[in-house]
Amino acid sequence: MTLGLGIDTSFDDTAVALVEDGNRILANLTVSQFAEHENFGGVIPERASRLHVQHLFPLLERALARAERRLEDLDYVAVTNRPGLIGSLLVGVSAGKALAMARGLPLVGVNHLEAHVYAVQMEHEDLVFPFVSLLVSGANTVIYHHRDHGDYRVLGGTLDDAVGECLDKSGRFIGLPLPAGPHLQKLALAGDAARCPMPRPMLNRPGYDFSFSGLKTAVVNTVRANPDLRPEDLAAGLLEAASDVLARKTFRAARDVGVKQVALCGGVAANLQLREAFARRAEKTGITFRHPSIPLCTDNAAMVAGLGYEHFRRGELADLDLAVAATVSWKRD
Ligand code: KG4
Repeated sequence: MTLGLGIDTSFDDTAVALVEDGNRILANLTVSQFAEHENFGGVIPERASRLHVQHLFPLLERALARAERRLEDLDYVAVTNRPGLIGSLLVGVSAGKALAMARGLPLVGVNHLEAHVYAVQMEHEDLVFPFVSLLVSGANTVIYHHRDHGDYRVLGGTLDDAVGECLDKSGRFIGLPLPAGPHLQKLALAGDAARCPMPRPMLNRPGYDFSFSGLKTAVVNTVRANPDLRPEDLAAGLLEAASDVLARKTFRAARDVGVKQVALCGGVAANLQLREAFARRAEKTGITFRHPSIPLCTDNAAMVAGLGYEHFRRGELADLDLAVAATVSWKRD
């Protein structure tokens, strides 16, 4: 049995998890800083770092208690070191180094975006390489072609807003609390998309890139032109359009590169309408699709401990000079 500690402080959530053998989750805890930043209209990086300092070790103690394990039981420490807010990343990485040094443990640096994809593999052993994934969150909308752990290429991505950003900004425009995605989902369940047809940006362009800033503008224009439009119908129209473009392009990419499986991951992968659109494309194309359970869609540290296990058993370890990076560079197919 190999016990891994995962730490993620890449953005505004402090997350700690304990995972056995890469996929058995003993504890997966997150403290959201959302309420602390709400009044400022966005995440204040300096404040986020300070809050990570405050939350991280108490959260570690709670995670150990939940898992009924002690620091002495750990076999490795995995920590997100890229991409994210530099100050926030530094808090998690410094804590990871301190723990690794104090207990003489191997340290593993994890790419947060790769970990989101690994979250699907943690719960679905039948998802095997090669496959195509769509990562959809507040900051990312990317289609990857995976050949192995760490061996992947970008097939396409958003040219402007991430889809989560589009949903959050559209939701805020109609007065929904942030993050607006889950509220839009609830409204859409009571709405009729046919009453509010929305554009499907770049759907018929070749390639696998997206654009969501135009969809956000279409929401603003539609609301201004139709003051009596029901928010339920707007939410249904918006989610149907976004889901349709995401699903069609992802499955088209999978077909073109010749894979039989698709993975959907990231915070927006929690969305019901998107999952249904993927299920419809899967049925139509014969390409299967897998997604994580809700706690593994949004930011979490279980996926970091999980991917950390793959690095650990391959001997891909970090030294105590492990650096942080705000961005990661992509290899395009
Ligand atoms: O991966 P994530 O937790 O972290 C960031 O990128 O920060 O993703 C957050 C995004 C937000 O845009 C939020 O509105 C969206 O995921 N989201 C959803 C749902 N749950 C979270 N969007 C649509 N439907 C949901 N059920």
